[in-house]
Amino acid sequence: MKNDLLLKAARGENINRYPVWLMRQAGRILPEYRAVRNSLDGFKSLVKNPDLCCEVTIQPVDILDVDAAIIFSDILVVPEAMGLNYEMIEKKGPWFEKTIRSEFDFKKLDSNIDINDRLGYVFEAIKKTKKELNQRVPLIGFAGAPWTIFCYMVDGQGSKTFSESRKLLYQNPILAHDLLNEITNTTIQYLKGQIHNGVDIVQIFDSWAGILPKNQYEEFSMPYLEKICNAINEVPKTIFCKGAFSSIKNICLLNCETVGLDWTMNIPVVRTIVGEKKTLQGNLDPCLLYASSKNIEKETQKLLDSLSSKRHILNLGHGVYPDTNPENVKTFIKTIKNYEIN
Ligand code: CP3
Repeated sequence: MKNDLLLKAARGENINRYPVWLMRQAGRILPEYRAVRNSLDGFKSLVKNPDLCCEVTIQPVDILDVDAAIIFSDILVVPEAMGLNYEMIEKKGPWFEKTIRSEFDFKKLDSNIDINDRLGYVFEAIKKTKKELNQRVPLIGFAGAPWTIFCYMVDGQGSKTFSESRKLLYQNPILAHDLLNEITNTTIQYLKGQIHNGVDIVQIFDSWAGILPKNQYEEFSMPYLEKICNAINEVPKTIFCKGAFSSIKNICLLNCETVGLDWTMNIPVVRTIVGEKKTLQGNLDPCLLYASSKNIEKETQKLLDSLSSKRHILNLGHGVYPDTNPENVKTFIKTIKNYEIN
């Protein structure tokens, strides 16, 4: 591979500069993405079109000069594969017609699904993208964490509180575990399919980690993350648990190479916990990219100067916000690429 810095950093190998990519780099900010997106009748038509997924996956590599591509898809393809169809409503986000609130709902989910049959369109996009990338940079595969997918399957849409999901943990913990187990098994098959078709590294997004108290996070999310980590040994794994700083010590014990940090988390504190055993990823505030280019450079430089280990992958602390100016993203990336370690 021509540029394998991301994989080297993930494995803890020697690097002379830090690799950089952005969560949600494909899709949210580039006018070139909008053009492709507007040529179709909706988000799902794009997700199910391997040629166009390949095109928008590579756009940030060409335009922003990031050190990795992340396959254009969505975490919600997994509940759909399990039998819960979703719609992506313009300016509102995901919406599920059916939700899982009872054993009766749970029993109606499709069991023993054939992952190639249900999610073959993602695998096709991965195969095309790998070919098209021609070994320029690694391709990142991903899935939602079981807890985060559970939130969408139970609440049925985005929410500030996900109180239907949180209610279920108190009212029917057995059903909650049954559903989390099903999601976990599908996710493992899905990630193995992505790896089989060419992704070089995988990331698990636990976007709603931060809404649970520590004890519930450790009962309803972490055991399933652990199961996924232990099942996937073919490529390096990154676990990103947004907002779960109270469980960070235990997250750092998971069988993964990289731990993703959001912008509220303290890198030196986590470095003290993990020593040289893990790579850390993150964690500039996505809102920094609304600042002047001088301040973006200054704050990025400050983060780079503060790093005490080479086991680091530069990123934001969450996905890049949709109204971010791509020029500001370029400033962020250039600052990192010009920074020599030592
Ligand atoms: O990183 C990338 O750019 C790759 C593609 C990717 C998308 N979604 C495409 C997308 C990835 C990695 C995701 C992950 C995802 N999806 C997460 C976890 C990461 C996070 O941000 O916390 C979550 C929670 C979702 C669920 C989801 N998908 C929501 C809530 C929404 C609507 C609001 C939003 O984020 O834009 C989506 C839609 C979505 N997924 C879009 C894209 C490019 C926008 C759709 C459009 O073009 O209209």
